[in-house]
Amino acid sequence: MSSDSIDNLMHEERRFPPPEAFAKTAIATDELYDDARSDRLAFWAKQARELLTWHTDFTQTLDWSGAPVARWFHDGELNVAYNCLDRHVEAGNGDRVAINWEGEPGDTRTITYAELTADVKRAANMLTDLGIGKGDTVAIYLPNVPEAVISMLAVARIGAIHSVVFGGFSAESLRSRIDDASAKLVITADGGWRKGKVSPLKPAVDGALALEKDTAHTVEHVLVVKRGENEVDWVEGRDVWWHDRFEAAAPEHEAQPFNAEHPLFILYTSGTTGKPKGIIHTSGGYLTQATFTHKNVFDLHPETDVYWCTADVGWITGHSYAVYGPLSNGATSVLYEGTPDAPHPARWFELIQKYKVSIFYTAPTAIRSYMKLGRASLDAFDLSSIRLLGSVGEPINPEAWIWYRDVVGGGTAPIVDTWWQTETGAIMISALPGVTTLKPGSAQVPLPGISIDVLDEAGHPVPPGGGGLLVVTEPWPSMLRGIWGDPERFRETYWSKFGTKYFAGDGARKDEDGDIWLLGRVDDVMNVSGHRLSTAEIESALVSHPIVAESAVVGAADEATGQAVVAFVVLRSEKAAGQTKDEASALLRSHVATQIGAIARPKQVFIVDELPKTRSGKIMRRLLQDVVEGRPIGDTMTLADATVMQTIADQLR
Ligand code: WTA
Repeated sequence: MSSDSIDNLMHEERRFPPPEAFAKTAIATDELYDDARSDRLAFWAKQARELLTWHTDFTQTLDWSGAPVARWFHDGELNVAYNCLDRHVEAGNGDRVAINWEGEPGDTRTITYAELTADVKRAANMLTDLGIGKGDTVAIYLPNVPEAVISMLAVARIGAIHSVVFGGFSAESLRSRIDDASAKLVITADGGWRKGKVSPLKPAVDGALALEKDTAHTVEHVLVVKRGENEVDWVEGRDVWWHDRFEAAAPEHEAQPFNAEHPLFILYTSGTTGKPKGIIHTSGGYLTQATFTHKNVFDLHPETDVYWCTADVGWITGHSYAVYGPLSNGATSVLYEGTPDAPHPARWFELIQKYKVSIFYTAPTAIRSYMKLGRASLDAFDLSSIRLLGSVGEPINPEAWIWYRDVVGGGTAPIVDTWWQTETGAIMISALPGVTTLKPGSAQVPLPGISIDVLDEAGHPVPPGGGGLLVVTEPWPSMLRGIWGDPERFRETYWSKFGTKYFAGDGARKDEDGDIWLLGRVDDVMNVSGHRLSTAEIESALVSHPIVAESAVVGAADEATGQAVVAFVVLRSEKAAGQTKDEASALLRSHVATQIGAIARPKQVFIVDELPKTRSGKIMRRLLQDVVEGRPIGDTMTLADATVMQTIADQLR
């Protein structure tokens, strides 16, 4: 959080009121703010009843007596999959396309709501046949293929709990997530298409389950989708093909009601200690807010819009805005399997043109990489279908914002910059596109029904123009209900700083109008291409290599990815003997990729003699960050050895 970024933002004077035509037909109006202000809980109760179909109505909206664990709509009952599927078919919309799926090689599948409902019913029976029941956890390790969506919904339909693990994570990472959640079943694929070739997935599952750990794993079956057509090893009795079991399963399945607070999924996210946190989300509150925000923030007209959220289903954005939000609203979506640059750099733009996408939701890192390509390669595509753009995952700098609006949005489309987290489950801060006058670079205002503030260290709200820590001051429907298996860590991480106000870990500034500008993480968590990675997790991966004695990891400002992983490593001289620094550095970069996944591979690994530490032995990462970002080195007063930083700086030069 440098003072630089604050200055830059303060000079941003451009303003974009909603286009008149847009405002005229906009779903969300000013009234929502009035409603929510006059009675916040009544507002959410109304949204829950209007947007969802309940098997049993609830009598209490919020029970906060067990703070910080909230219960929303807790005596209500619903089935999340029924809300995303059957009810649309029953309403006569079975022929509407739910998913326009495109594989990276260009193969496609068009799936209507009637078809998706039928597939999920059969898949629900398939899971029951495999011994999965209410409360069991299922790990899903799949590419962005329709079976990923079908699996999530089938798990939800039978009251089991899914834990989707992004397909880019390594065998190690997968195993720790399988163990933490005691998963009974893993759903994976032989492989998926990425960057023009099949990237195998099954070997990582085999590897994960073969790892020697203190306790045996809990997995009974591995259900394998055939996608990559690559050769796979097979463990008889454990491994089963999706297509065999799917065809053998009964087609009819009646969705049973579950309590609003029944867990829907666990999703692992990085924290400040090495171990990822299993964020728990439940059913009624989560679906209410995912549905509400998807409809109002994206101005969804389900009869006419084609909506595309580019996130992988393995991240929270994929959960809330590629699966649950859009399907609950009966939207027509695009789902794409591959990378944005395969087989040509402007593949996403080709897809916008092909499917006439009208609402497009992506991350600043993708926007910046398209900016680098230049307009010429993008101008070849007709993007005139676009009428609304969204951004998520990190602060979007005003230049990227303007480029996004001009080049992708035809110079007119409103942009909603949406702030939220895995923990918040759904969007918390965003403009409403038909109401708010937009300010490039600011996420702007809390949504109706959401209470946000910026506090100083002592817990006092900062005055207009001031900077501090972002908090959510009142419970919200889609808030996390805990960390799987670790209630203490839940309290400690989010609630120990400001009591019953949720501490998000982000720095923010409130401007003179009260609009919010996000300033990035204040903890030791980096944001690389919109994905959270913890310095501690990467450090422990580095130290797990025999040649490493000590390591420190920092996020360094990076034009393309927001932040890049940069590691400083002290080698164990006896083990590293004979290796050049370049060799050691290359070795450790790929070691991190195998331990955690390619996404965590350090951009650079510097081999140094010593790390900067305080007298109590705490590594001062901020000083290392100064060096890699080319700033004068900050205060070294508290260092045990004040010369260390100079040595490091000299070594890097
Ligand atoms: C950052 C992704 C600025 C923030 C949905 C947050 C943002 C973390 C924005 C959560 C935004 C997300 N502007 N920063 N619009 N959206 N962030 O859990 O630091 O993967 O705490 O959830 O991303 O990342 P997560």
